[in-house]
Amino acid sequence: MTENGNGDGTGFFTSVADTVDRLAAVGYLASTAVATTVYLADRLGKPLLVEGPAGVGKTELAKAVARIGAARLVRLQCYEGIDEARALYEWNHAKQLLRITAGRDEGWDAARTDIFGEEFLLTRPLLTAIRGDEPTVLLIDELDKADVEVEALLLELLSDFQVTVPELGTITASRRPFVLLTSNATRELSEALRRRCLFLHLDYPDAELEHRIVRLQVPGLDETLAASLVRVVGALRAMELRKAPSVAETVDWARTLLALGADTLDDAVVRDTLGVILKHQDDVRKAARKLTLA
Ligand SMILES: Nc1ncnc2c1ncn2[C@@H]1O[C@H](COP(=O)(O)OP(=O)(O)OP(=O)(O)O)[C@@H](O)[C@H]1O
Ligand SMILES: [Mg+2]
Repeated sequence: MTENGNGDGTGFFTSVADTVDRLAAVGYLASTAVATTVYLADRLGKPLLVEGPAGVGKTELAKAVARIGAARLVRLQCYEGIDEARALYEWNHAKQLLRITAGRDEGWDAARTDIFGEEFLLTRPLLTAIRGDEPTVLLIDELDKADVEVEALLLELLSDFQVTVPELGTITASRRPFVLLTSNATRELSEALRRRCLFLHLDYPDAELEHRIVRLQVPGLDETLAASLVRVVGALRAMELRKAPSVAETVDWARTLLALGADTLDDAVVRDTLGVILKHQDDVRKAARKLTLA
């Protein structure tokens, strides 16, 4: 048992219903399916891999869990070329050199023991997340953007909640972080990584849920207008566009309509504001044609 008295889990939630309620209380509306996976990840103390298109609330989910647990959010933003030194730790070479120079008379052996100590260690997000006793949410964001070697770095952390620094030995988390990894699936993640995680495919919400999200995030918007907006967004997603509008864009569109003081979603309003939800000229043209806007 860990300190939180909940087996190996992080212990943020007590049931699926509790997960739905507490996510909603911090502004994140989840379907029962989503809440179930989040609850299980918390309960079993397993990392959660969230895959899905852009703008469907993957990153926001990690932020919401952190808000609920009053946890610190440690974020590793992945990009091409990210390496161990950026993700895990690195030695402060400048400081080490100074130490060696200052201690020239002591001889190399003394300096060597010294310069590979805590004081010279620069901790990066993965190491930061497993050290310390406070509740922590570790967000490994957009893992598919990193090179495949980075996944190898994560395996020890994801299965044993520990990392090994050759000069210092193995550092084990005294309190397990809630780990959430996100991916847009621009490349396949390795089997070894998937095996260590619970998997959640986050897709565009259904109309009812999206309507609730809009109402929550843009409370000033008229209910009927919100419903028409969600319907048009659904129609746009059904077209084969280069970039379908995401939840983020639905919310932006709702804010736009509110700012413009529009009371109905007529053709002129849609035409003039399509740029808020569609980000390619081809898509704007295609949508205008299919929605038969003048
Ligand atoms: N279930 C939800 N409840 C409330 N808001 C949501 C929900 N899903 C998405 N949103 C809204 O959509 C915005 C975008 O979500 P987020 O940034 O998490 O997307 P993402 O999936 O991480 O996208 P990307 O792959 O581009 O990083 C959030 O800031 C939030 O306003
Ligand atoms: Mg994101």
